Amino acid sequence: MPNSSPHPLFDVLIIGSGAAGLSAALRLPPSLSVLLLSKSSINAGSTPWAQGGIAAALGGIEDIEQHIQDTIRAGNELPDAAVVQRVVRAGAEQIDWLLSLGMPFSGDSNQLHLTREGGHGARRVAHAADHTGRTLMETLLEAVKARSNITVQEQKLAVDLITTHKLGALDAPNRCLGAYVLDLTCDTVHTVRADYVILATGGAAKAYLYTTNPDGSTGDGIAMGWRAGCRVANMEFMQFHPTCLFEARAKSFLISEAVRGEGGLLLLPDGTRFMQNYHPDAELAPRDVVARAIDSEMKRLGIDCVYLDISFKGRAFIEEHFPMIHARCLQYGYDMTTQPLPVVPAAHYTCGGIMVDEQGQTDLDCLYAIGETSHTGLHGANRLASNSLLECLVYGQACAQHIASRHSAKENLSPSPLAVPDWDDSQVTDADEAVIVTHNWDELRRAMWDYVGIVRTTKRLQRAAHRISLLRREIQDYYAHFRVSNNLIELRNLVDVADLIVRAALARPESRGLHYTRDFPESDPKLAHINTICTPIPAEKLGCELGIHSVTPDMTHANKT
Ligand code: FAD
Ligand code: SIN
Repeated sequence: MPNSSPHPLFDVLIIGSGAAGLSAALRLPPSLSVLLLSKSSINAGSTPWAQGGIAAALGGIEDIEQHIQDTIRAGNELPDAAVVQRVVRAGAEQIDWLLSLGMPFSGDSNQLHLTREGGHGARRVAHAADHTGRTLMETLLEAVKARSNITVQEQKLAVDLITTHKLGALDAPNRCLGAYVLDLTCDTVHTVRADYVILATGGAAKAYLYTTNPDGSTGDGIAMGWRAGCRVANMEFMQFHPTCLFEARAKSFLISEAVRGEGGLLLLPDGTRFMQNYHPDAELAPRDVVARAIDSEMKRLGIDCVYLDISFKGRAFIEEHFPMIHARCLQYGYDMTTQPLPVVPAAHYTCGGIMVDEQGQTDLDCLYAIGETSHTGLHGANRLASNSLLECLVYGQACAQHIASRHSAKENLSPSPLAVPDWDDSQVTDADEAVIVTHNWDELRRAMWDYVGIVRTTKRLQRAAHRISLLRREIQDYYAHFRVSNNLIELRNLVDVADLIVRAALARPESRGLHYTRDFPESDPKLAHINTICTPIPAEKLGCELGIHSVTPDMTHANKT
């Protein structure tokens, strides 16, 4: 590591240790020094929880063409066709790469077992039984261990990005210089410098009361990128997974869509099917359709959940295909080999995010965003099942290649015009009432669930916007006066992201994919290819945003371009 700077200086800082961050780290040349951070344990992101698998068209040209069409149809025509083609065409190469790292997919390397999920016209999902994410993490981490250029640090929470404009150098082009990072083991904020920074911090489903996501899905990367001046797109499209186990003790446990892919049926409490009334593909309709249908049946009948039944496939089949789900459900007293499982929809995936180009580059020079944090154009108004891990891998590789070529071209990254100051917490004190943070967490997530959920109205969205603006002010105030903690930082990010979601939803006067509003129940063909783009106020209008005393940009507009 070069050490002429008073702060640690790496070639590349990767914030996030999921599929996106780890694959980017592995794709970077071993000659580059890489620091990879996780705010919690290395396995804290969504990746280890992935069940269904990795979508990849392995069946030749026709399969590729159909995967492209399925992705665009599931995304309600909004996906960027060029992006879809590029990502889908890279599928086979990504699976080969994982096989070369030793990933034990189900089936054998000559003939992988492929499962099916909603919206896919064919069996196309490579998987490791029903614990694809866990196995993927093990594979990637094993490979990372063998790379001496990659330093992995846990319990390191990135607070904010450091940019030339935040340092006051407003005449120079804005560039990312690193990040302030809270070391949770000693409650100290460190300055980390890097030539290139990659945000790989996952999604923001924790903005909702009920979610399939782990606790850390608080949209940190989206909020940090936004505050640093990056545009954010399509935040109204929060995906709700149709089948989360309805069991309080499980907190949030997903029942994979592959259960329906392998024949599982959705039932009302009296045992009747209903999905055929909503879509010709019934249980295998795209996720937005299935989640909305379940929500509608629950409201129509006043019931707490619906049921997912695959027991008729028999114990041997279920134990082979869904060993992890079966074992976990047994812990809560449900035997899926003999009975249907109670299920409800829950917030699952953030389709929008920081706008990036095909190399994962954001609006800010030297800052990249990959994985669920980013908006690449792949998902449009609704992500096709198992396309997320594929996107993580493809963009992990793309951004690594881009950084490597910039680095090897010895591109002149002119030194920062100002020295990067240390984090200044001399003006703040220890938090006096932690209850404010916990109360606001609950209030925000409940407001999002109640007002910005599966079915929306303009009035509900306006109500949410009002609540969020009050909460935001309160949280900003708290942030300005008290020492940072992980809960406070996550809450500050979550309220920024909630604000982006609501403003984007209000800016789309139609229903499309995951954004369904009773006030505009139809899709508007004029908006079929229009992304909702939120543009931050330019930094020069903000003044300095450093250390504790930051001013988060207000949304000027959630405009359509
Ligand atoms: P994550 O895996 O979420 O990793 C984020 C990382 O960032 C973590 O290491 C976290 O600690 C770190 N981090 C976050 N904020 C900070 C910060 N401020 N400072 C430092 N570190 C930070 N997709 C599929 O394609 N197929 C599936 O079968 C599938 N199943 C799923 C099942 C479940 C239950 C869930 C929740 C999701 C599933 N998805 C699936 C979606 C997919 O798993 C995620 O979209 C994908 O794993 C995201 O990967 P990522 O690398 O972008 O982020
Ligand atoms: C699942 O297994 O149902 C999740 C797949 C996904 O989110 O893509």
